[in-house]
Amino acid sequence: MSESTSVVLPNGRCAPIVGFGTWQASEEELEAAIDNAIEAGYRHIDAAPVYLNEHVIGRVLKKWFDSGKIKREDLFIVTKLPPTGNRPESVEKYLKKSLKDLQLEYLDLYLIHTPFGFVEEGDDLHPKYENGDMKMDMDTDHLAVWAEMEKQVVNGLTKAIGLSNFNSKQIDRVLKAAKVPVSMLQIELHLYFQQKEMVDFCKSRDVPITAFSPLGTRGLVQLLGKNDTLPDCMANPKVLEIAKKHSKTPAQISLKHLIQKGVIVIPKSTNPQRIKDNIQLFGWMLDAEDVAELDNLDQGAKGRICDFSFLPGTNKHPEFPFK
Ligand code: A2P
Repeated sequence: MSESTSVVLPNGRCAPIVGFGTWQASEEELEAAIDNAIEAGYRHIDAAPVYLNEHVIGRVLKKWFDSGKIKREDLFIVTKLPPTGNRPESVEKYLKKSLKDLQLEYLDLYLIHTPFGFVEEGDDLHPKYENGDMKMDMDTDHLAVWAEMEKQVVNGLTKAIGLSNFNSKQIDRVLKAAKVPVSMLQIELHLYFQQKEMVDFCKSRDVPITAFSPLGTRGLVQLLGKNDTLPDCMANPKVLEIAKKHSKTPAQISLKHLIQKGVIVIPKSTNPQRIKDNIQLFGWMLDAEDVAELDNLDQGAKGRICDFSFLPGTNKHPEFPFK
């Protein structure tokens, strides 16, 4: 059990164990939310070009740097290679575009966002056919892309590189070829989808994990129209009982369950009080009995929410990860 406030990456640098998620936040909401998050003590921000808001994050960060209250080296900034850039010749271009939008000279971590790729059509990050299916690039070559990711570390554009949404077979293939360590796997993890095998797999290979949707991503559940089939883990009676016992919120219990195992969490919120609450995770511990009860809430594969069904056609790609 750990009460660490950060996770040491293979390159020796530390990532704060609580980061701030930025998916599904509109421009206006996000500007205020990042301000609130930095005020509340978040020093790790998770971004992605496909969230269409890196320029907002950049604007807020610049304001904080200009104020002198925060320095670049105080922050841990993560962003991702979008599926439209999932080919070697596109890596540097997309990384530089993210740096420009974020108004930064370097990233702390750059991830391959998905194991599948989309075709490139101008600036459109979600190219679609008329029937709504995504236009897939079926020739995605992970090892060639990874080699190009490694060059970005050597060239100083990012301090570390990693993967997101890859399955264990895909990760293993990259690990076997990697000259620069795979410094992160970012995957969906929450009480109803604990991915124990994957967590053990990464642990045995010294790949740190970031949990996206650590609260069970009700926003996405709504978007998918699955409110009835995917219940809210924060409303689970056991979670409510443990929350009451520790005088904490259900969200704090859900997040603590992950960070106590050394997993980084990146909860997203645009609500000022919840932003503050979601980082108040230190100075108290879940006891072994709580952890065992929370472990038992896992629903296995049926707990997965982010199955990419909101990007139709991705399951036809040869590297679709959840077959
Ligand atoms: P809001 O932005 O209104 O706070 P995840 O990070 O798992 O994807 O979850 C994000 C969702 O969870 C958002 O809908 C967010 O809504 C909500 N959320 C964030 N923090 C809390 C909290 N402390 N309690 C309840 N819901 C929360």
